[in-house]
Amino acid sequence: MAQEHITLLDNRRVILGVTGSIAAYKAADLASKLTQAGALVDVIMTEAARQFVTPLTFQSVTGRPVYTTMWQADSSGGLPTHIAHVGLGEGADLLIIAPATAHTLARLAHGLADDLLSVTALAARGPVLVAPAMDGGMYAHPATQANLDILRSRGVIVIEPDEGRFASGLVGRGRLPETPALLGAIRLALARGGILAGRRCVITAGGTREPLDPVRHLTNRSSGKQGYALAQAALDAGAAVTLISTVRDLPVPVGADVVRVDTAAEMLAAVEAHLPGADALIMAAAVADFRPASAAEQKIKKSDDPAEGLHLELARTPDILLAVRAQRDQTGWPRVVVGFAAESEDLLANAQGKLARKGLDLIVANDISAPDAGFEVDTNRVVLLDAHGGQQALDLTSKARVAEIVIERVASLVIERSG
Ligand code: C5P
Repeated sequence: MAQEHITLLDNRRVILGVTGSIAAYKAADLASKLTQAGALVDVIMTEAARQFVTPLTFQSVTGRPVYTTMWQADSSGGLPTHIAHVGLGEGADLLIIAPATAHTLARLAHGLADDLLSVTALAARGPVLVAPAMDGGMYAHPATQANLDILRSRGVIVIEPDEGRFASGLVGRGRLPETPALLGAIRLALARGGILAGRRCVITAGGTREPLDPVRHLTNRSSGKQGYALAQAALDAGAAVTLISTVRDLPVPVGADVVRVDTAAEMLAAVEAHLPGADALIMAAAVADFRPASAAEQKIKKSDDPAEGLHLELARTPDILLAVRAQRDQTGWPRVVVGFAAESEDLLANAQGKLARKGLDLIVANDISAPDAGFEVDTNRVVLLDAHGGQQALDLTSKARVAEIVIERVASLVIERSG
């Protein structure tokens, strides 16, 4: 799937430093995804990096010049690169060095400035991220770890390498994380100071699963995509995010704390446990209204009589939002509550009713009868209704964009409530 546009990265100036590790080829994918997401990516390659990959690879994916030496003149034919690109470092929103070799980490830790990348690192004013990539023994070596400690103490963000098999055949910790993890770390770093910085959001996602017996459950078609998009949008706005999720097959946005649940009762317990002190609760989960009255301990067998069916007795599940409403009346937390209404008829009237009954600040109403909106797909068409009768109808758009708009609304409510 093509990389989506990411508002947080739009027109942001990112410097990608590439050093001499076999993982240098993976940095081309990062450069490509950053560019597709809307960032302006300037790549600086060390001499060792160029033994593994050529500048042309990066130039091709970023559409911008690649910097390799201190002594080349810049594209306007003026200043030598080491002078011109002090400006590059100062003007950048973020510097990420991926992969970062043991040697580069040592040079950064000791403030050496003997090539363009190390000069730029000293000039950088935005967040600096390093993604170490090397053999496990080199990574674990006290010298490397001490250098990383020095860098951390100066505010450098160290992206932990993955465990796995190295090109050498050895196994250990030291592999460059995959692009989504690197991209997630970049997003987190850029989100600092966003409109929800210092705030905490609890977001639920996915359809609950109510067990019938050890191998069967009742569930619904919710994919969790809108909830995960909301978690990412809240992170992009700088919030701390607790994602209470029934979903197992979607990548967790980097930085979110995930609490895995299955049933409505488990979701209620998790929500209640995380609400004290939370600024916002966004209930995007499709919570079952009914569960099997009792779950059989053993697998339910069919009888030999092909005419004999099975009667299921269903019981009501707890309404999480009603329970939250009661808690909030007593404690004042959470400051803002958002619900969802998935409707197949009378969309606005039904959503309005839920908004009032559940004591919500905002409800996101979507018409699930349309094939391009609602369950499973990546797009949604929603109307936002607020407690003052306001309506905001959004055209068909990505779930990521819907999430951003909901989070903007949440942020203004949070700010309004906290004075
Ligand atoms: O009543 P209905 O299920 O249509 O309301 C939808 C909203 O209520 C959603 O935000 C959903 O997460 C929440 N809900 C809940 N507890 C339930 C059922 C739904 O909190 N048992």
